[in-house]
Amino acid sequence: EEGLHPTQYPWEHTKWTKTFDHAALRRGFQVYREVCAACHSLKRIPYRSLVGTIMTVDEAKALAEENEYDTEPNDEGEIEKRPGKLSDYIPAPYKNDEAARAANNGALPPDLSLIVKARHGGCNYIFSLLTGYPDEPPAGAAVQSGLSFNPYFPGTGIAMARVLYDGLVEYEDGTPATSSQMAKDVVEFLNWTAEPEMDERKKMGIKVLIIGTALLALSGWIKRYKWAPIK
Ligand code: HEM
Repeated sequence: EEGLHPTQYPWEHTKWTKTFDHAALRRGFQVYREVCAACHSLKRIPYRSLVGTIMTVDEAKALAEENEYDTEPNDEGEIEKRPGKLSDYIPAPYKNDEAARAANNGALPPDLSLIVKARHGGCNYIFSLLTGYPDEPPAGAAVQSGLSFNPYFPGTGIAMARVLYDGLVEYEDGTPATSSQMAKDVVEFLNWTAEPEMDERKKMGIKVLIIGTALLALSGWIKRYKWAPIK
């Protein structure tokens, strides 16, 4: 059973002349950390990749140091704990899938690193999903216990309850944290985690276009110049 088609939103960052809005990415990462990270991993993202795009190198180092990682085994084969560093990956909330399911009524919260690419509808779908929980399921809808009704989720019964409510986080840049603002920011952030090279790709595309146009114009001029005496 397919879910309701998501609304198509005019995402700025997906336009071919536009890049990610770094302030939005920073807010979106805050939403991930303060809300989604309780259940969802982001296992493809090392702290170092946040540097420059989302935070300064000092901020990323400090964030990495908030977590402990295993050391390589020493000569006696002992593993110890050390503070995180830039090359470490953002830690998962659960030890393994089994523990994740046990904490979520049997359902597995998927890793969010590539979710924007993995789900049909991408940004529009995830935004619609996050903001699409009605206060009450429609009359007559059969919702299994432990599941929430969400018309955008295939099957409509989802093991993730509504998580975004107005004012849930406090943005440091003063942006009002409405549910839709948080959903928009976290979706843009998750598009960045899935396609961190998008900005470079677009910039390169524009260079190719400019240089290509110049070369084409030049070759047109040379052709006319060379053939001029023959006419
Ligand atoms: C599923 C996003 C917070 C638990 C999902 C899915 C997405 C998502 C995109 C996949 C839906 C699909 O399969 O099509 C997010 C975001 C969050 C967030 C962006 C933060 C804003 C949470 C939290 C929890 C949670 C806090 C736990 C309390 C789950 C579970 C599923 C899920 C259990 C699997 C649902 C199912 O298969 O029925 N989430 N989530 N999520 N999420 Fe979240």
